[in-house]
Order: sequence, then structure tokens, then C-alpha cells
Amino acid sequence: MPEPPVILAIESSCDDTAAAVVAGGRLRANVVSSQDVHLAYGGVVPELASRDHQRLIVPVVTQAMTQAGVDKADLDAVAVTYGPGLAGSLLVGLSFAKALALGLGVPLVGVNHLEGHIYSVFIEDGPPFPYLCLVVSGGHTQLVYVEDGFRLRLLGQTRDDAAGEAFDKVAKLLGLGYPGGPKIDALAQQGDPAFHAFPRTLAGEAGYDFSFSGLKTSVLYFLNRFSEAERAAFLDEHLADLCAAFQQAVVDVLIDALRRAVGQTGARHVAVVGGVSANTALRAAAEALAHEAGFTLYLPPLRYCMDNAAMIAVTAHFKLAAGLTSPLTLTAQPGLALG
Ligand code: KG4
Ligand code: ZN
Repeated sequence: MPEPPVILAIESSCDDTAAAVVAGGRLRANVVSSQDVHLAYGGVVPELASRDHQRLIVPVVTQAMTQAGVDKADLDAVAVTYGPGLAGSLLVGLSFAKALALGLGVPLVGVNHLEGHIYSVFIEDGPPFPYLCLVVSGGHTQLVYVEDGFRLRLLGQTRDDAAGEAFDKVAKLLGLGYPGGPKIDALAQQGDPAFHAFPRTLAGEAGYDFSFSGLKTSVLYFLNRFSEAERAAFLDEHLADLCAAFQQAVVDVLIDALRRAVGQTGARHVAVVGGVSANTALRAAAEALAHEAGFTLYLPPLRYCMDNAAMIAVTAHFKLAAGLTSPLTLTAQPGLALG
């Protein structure tokens, strides 16, 4: 039996510059450098993100290779995210990976960032196929039925804002900074989720499509009832309650869709992945649903929820085993969809 391949994976689709190494079928290194140049702007500035990737890519890759104890000559393949994401950011990682694969004469493995999140549960003990997967990130909210490796069925997705985007926009309204998810999560732990009933909107009648932009607007309308002085006083007293009530509305919508999808598909294995899967209330509600509906739940450890290259490395490991490599003419695809 041949030795499992040594793969270097690179992820640069948004504002995290990341590299990971899998060798001997095990994750050997996982380095993520989260850019802080965007903090002052309350969101990711694409031009600054690509410049920072340019600055960070060599040190991050070097650190991952050193941590893994592998040399360039040991690499059997170079994997990289080629979409979806910011064009200028994707190009930095992709150009670097293509040059390295060309120079070393090893295969290039292009990975869809969303597939990376979906397979992030395999970095540690993953589910058997098929499994139902809720992908909740800053850019996407999708419910996917994973038939087996690389056969995916999209059951539903958001028609407007992604769940993480809703967290980030509401955090911005509340002056909490970017990214908003972890800040709202922390505050919500001191608040009352029943403080106010924000709308639980479903897009489409019985399907699995989501809509979060109305929820963000209802938080805005709620705050606009106050004068500036009243608002400051209100937030002084009830910021945590407001965070908890907003967060509960997001969690309820996601869990309701998951409950219905489990009922309809009969899924016995369910994964919740992506940046928002780090959310304390969502994790607890998913655990409670697993108990109630009798399925096995797979949640990535927190370090693999947010963008990272370990998930790209694991996906590349599967792709390589299936003989799926990419030509060196592979281009960045900012709008790349699943499937
Ligand atoms: O998967 P990810 O790192 O990047 C994308 O692919 O978009 O997800 C980032 C998103 C951000 O919107 C961030 O606010 C959200 O995940 N997030 C959270 C939490 N941690 C990160 N949202 C809610 N609660 C959290 N604890
Ligand atoms: Zn992501």
C-alpha cells in the first residue's frame, strides 16, 4: 500500500492567510494569520486583504512547513482554495500554489472553500456518509445533503444575507466592531434571549431557503425608536439582552430548518460547520436537537470553525485519493458555487 501523501494546503479567500500540512493521513501543522488591518474599517477591505496576503503568505507557509517537519522536496501535492471569495485575495494564494506546484513538479489540487467547510468535520473523527450538513459562515448559509465524497445535494440556502453577515451587521449597528459574531456570542451569554421576539423569517413556504436581512432591519427599527440619548441609556442597560434576543432568532431559524431536513431526509448523521458553528447558543441548540431527534452530531472544534487551511488540506486528501487534481491553468473563481 502506498504511503499517504504529504500535502501543503493554502487558504487565502478572505482575510485569513492560512497554511496547513497533512502527512501520513494526519494533520501535522495548521497556521492561521488573521489580518487586523480591517479592524478600523468595521469590515474586510478587499484591497488591504490582498496586500496583506502578499506580505504574509511566505512566512505563514514557512511556519507550517517547519511545524510539520517537512521540506519542500517531501511534498506530493499543493492544495489551494480557488473560490468562492475575494478575487484579489484568492489570486495571492492561487498564484503562490501554482508556482510552487510547477516548480516542484507535483500536482495542484484546487479546493472549493465551501467543500472545505463541509469536510472540516473530517480533520478529526468525521461522520460516515451520507450526512446532512449546515454550512453557516460569513458569506454562506446552506443546507447540504452529502451523499458521499463530492456528491452533494443543495437543499436550501440564504436568499440574502448569510447568518454570519447578519451577526456582523447587527454588531456594527451596536458599535461592537468586526467580526461581530464572537462579540455578540460573548455578550449574549449574560443576556435574556426572551427579552424581545425578533421575527423568525423563512424564505419560501416549506423549503429550506433562509432570509436574514429582515432580521437585521428589525434590529435597526427597534433601535430607531429611541432618541440618541435614550438609545445610549437603553444599550447601557440592555445590550446583552438585545444580543441574546437577536442571536436566539438566528438560532431558531437555523435549528427549525435542520429539524425539518432531518425529518424529511431521515439523516442519522448531521454536521454544523463554518464560522457561525462556533456560536455557543447554536452549538447547544444543535446538541439538544440531536438528543431530541436521535441523530449523531458532528461539530468541528472551535479552531476549525473559522477559516483555516486544515480543512482545505483534508478536502485535498480526499480529492487526491479520488484522482481529482487541477490543471496549472486553474483560475480564481470568486463566485464559485457548490457541486
Ligand atoms: O467561515 P468563516 O471564518 O468565514 C467565511 O467563510 O465567511 O466565518 C466568519 C463568520 C463571521 O461572520 C463571524 O462573525 C462569524 O463567522 N462567527 C460567529 C462566531 N464566530 C465567528 N458568529 C456567531 N457566533 C460566533 N461565536
Ligand atoms: Zn469560510
